Amino acid sequence: MTQPNALFLSFEGIDFSGKSTQARLVYEWFRQRDIPAMFVREPGGTALSEEIRRILLDRTYGTMCAEAELFLFSAARAQLVRETILPALSSGIHVIADRFHDSTTAYQGYGRGIDLDAVRAIHRLALNGVYPHITFFFDIPYEESRRRRALLNRPDDRMEAQDETFYLRVRSGYAALAKHEPDRFIVLDGCRPVEEITRTILQSIQERLT
Ligand code: ADP
Ligand code: TYD
Repeated sequence: MTQPNALFLSFEGIDFSGKSTQARLVYEWFRQRDIPAMFVREPGGTALSEEIRRILLDRTYGTMCAEAELFLFSAARAQLVRETILPALSSGIHVIADRFHDSTTAYQGYGRGIDLDAVRAIHRLALNGVYPHITFFFDIPYEESRRRRALLNRPDDRMEAQDETFYLRVRSGYAALAKHEPDRFIVLDGCRPVEEITRTILQSIQERLT
C-alpha cells in the first residue's frame, strides 16, 4: 500500500501550542529540498471536510452535543483520509497534518468525556488503517495558551470558547496518549523558542528519512 519512505507526520497539542507554526516550517523544509510533501489541516483539507469545519467552529451551534461533535470531526477525517492522505502516501508523498485523530481522542474523549473505547472504534472506521508514523505533541501550560490567544486579539470560535478545566483534561489526555505510545509520540516543550523546536523536529524526521 503506502511506500515505506512516505512519512505521515501529525502535529498535536492544545490550541495556540504552536502546531501550525511548526507544521508549516517543516512543510517548507521539505519543499526547499524538492522532497514531495503535502500539508493538510484538520478539520478540513477537502471541500466536504472544510464545510464540516465551518459547522464545527460556528458559535451558532453552541448547543452541539459531544456525540455529534465526535461524528462530525470523524466524518471530516474519513473523507480527508480517502480523498487526500491515502492517495498521497501511496504515491510516495510525505504528509504533514496539522492535527489528526489524536485531537479527537484528546478533545472529544478526554475533554468531553466520551468513552475512549467508542472513540477508538470510530477511529478504526474513519482512518482505514492510516495512522501517523510520528506524532509531535507540543506541550504548553493552559496559561501560555491563554497568553498567546490574548495577543492575537480575535474572537473565540466555538471550540476555543471552552473553560480552563476542559483544556486541562485535553492536555493531560495528550500526555496519557504520548505515554501509552512512546514510539510514535515525540513530546516537545512548546514554550521553547520556535527555531529550537524546529531543529528538534527536523532531527527526528531526518533520522526517519535515512
Ligand atoms: P496552534 O496551531 O497550535 O494553534 P500557532 O502555531 O498558530 O498555534 O501559534 C499560536 C500563536 O503562538 C501564534 O501567535 C504564534 O506566533 C505563537 N507561537 C508559536 N510558537 C511559539 C513559540 N515557540 N513561542 C512563543 N510563541 C509561539
Ligand atoms: P483550529 O482553528 O484548526 O485550531 P488550532 O489552530 O488550535 O488547530 O480549530 C480546530 C479546533 O477543533 C481546535 O479547538 C481543536 C478542535 N478539534 C477537536 O476538538 N477535535 C478534533 O478531532 C480536531 C481535529 C480538532
